[in-house]
Amino acid sequence: MSALPSRAVCDCPVDAITEVADGTHLLRFRSPVISNQSLPGQFVNIKVSGGQHPLLRRPFSVCRVNAREGWFEVLWKVVGQGTAIMAQARPGDTFSVIGPLGRGYTVPESTRTALLVGGGLGVAPLPFLAENLAAAGTSVEVYVGARSKGDLSMLEAFGSLGLEPVIATEDGSVGACGFVTAPLTTRLKELQGAPDAHLFSCGPTGFLKAMTALSKQYEIPGQIAIETVMACGFGICVGCAVPAKRQVGTGRRYKLACIDGPVFDSDEVELDG
Ligand SMILES: Cc1cc2nc3c(=O)[nH]c(=O)nc-3n(C[C@H](O)[C@H](O)[C@H](O)COP(=O)(O)OP(=O)(O)OC[C@H]3O[C@@H](n4cnc5c(N)ncnc54)[C@H](O)[C@@H]3O)c2cc1C
Ligand code: FES
Repeated sequence: MSALPSRAVCDCPVDAITEVADGTHLLRFRSPVISNQSLPGQFVNIKVSGGQHPLLRRPFSVCRVNAREGWFEVLWKVVGQGTAIMAQARPGDTFSVIGPLGRGYTVPESTRTALLVGGGLGVAPLPFLAENLAAAGTSVEVYVGARSKGDLSMLEAFGSLGLEPVIATEDGSVGACGFVTAPLTTRLKELQGAPDAHLFSCGPTGFLKAMTALSKQYEIPGQIAIETVMACGFGICVGCAVPAKRQVGTGRRYKLACIDGPVFDSDEVELDG
């Protein structure tokens, strides 16, 4: 499951849009091309308005795909102008979408147990990954953390795959009370050093830092999907540079989140913030 270099610019009609959690929307686009080419962890860059404002496209993970039926979905929370415009979309509206973009999750051949961990909206790329892993016969465990019950989404997508996510909420309104790293740590202690286990995570920077530390502590290799501010989405503007942990020669080496990522090995890049 690594990235394909091909990408398309498509005018994608909206098939359906649903508010699946408080301020969180799931939008299904019709696009045989993007649905056929996407891999888990990749993203699309969406022009949210036909006018000048906002000028830049907005990046979103590919959340779920059905290549046979020719659709893909994105999941987002309204945080600003672009995401608010998208929330007004109605079936039949059309958006210009570039995708699929970036390097997605790579599943090592040795993987027998896959731990998928989403912090908040970081759950977005995981249903697609879970579906592919389950279809390949990999044992999948899902861990989802959120502030509160109303912030949880996509649980039924995991349920339809026969998966029951381990949930933690910071206010204890559902699942364990606190951070999802607590139940995850219990499991990692059991798996410590297992050569066939792998962590796949996505979420805010602080959460990804915690995942990186857990991966190291319990000797379970991991990959993290990061978010940066992006403009072009395909390596031209250099707006998404992130410092790499390993330097090359004497100079500091940067990676571009849009083409080298957004998924990186957990020891590959420095996480700020
Ligand atoms: C590869 C990638 C995949 C993403 N996938 C998803 C997803 O599946 N679901 C989802 O809800 N969001 C996702 N994001 C974040 C999403 O792109 C931003 O929330 C969106 O661009 C905000 O647009 P806006 O116009 O509503 O907000 P703006 O008005 O532009 O900004 C509002 C707030 O959001 C912050 N913000 C803006 N752009 C980004 C960004 N690229 N990353 C982080 N914070 C940002 C700003 O700093 C500001 O605080 C992803 C980002 C990247 C880089
Ligand atoms: S967003 Fe332009 S180079 Fe990455």
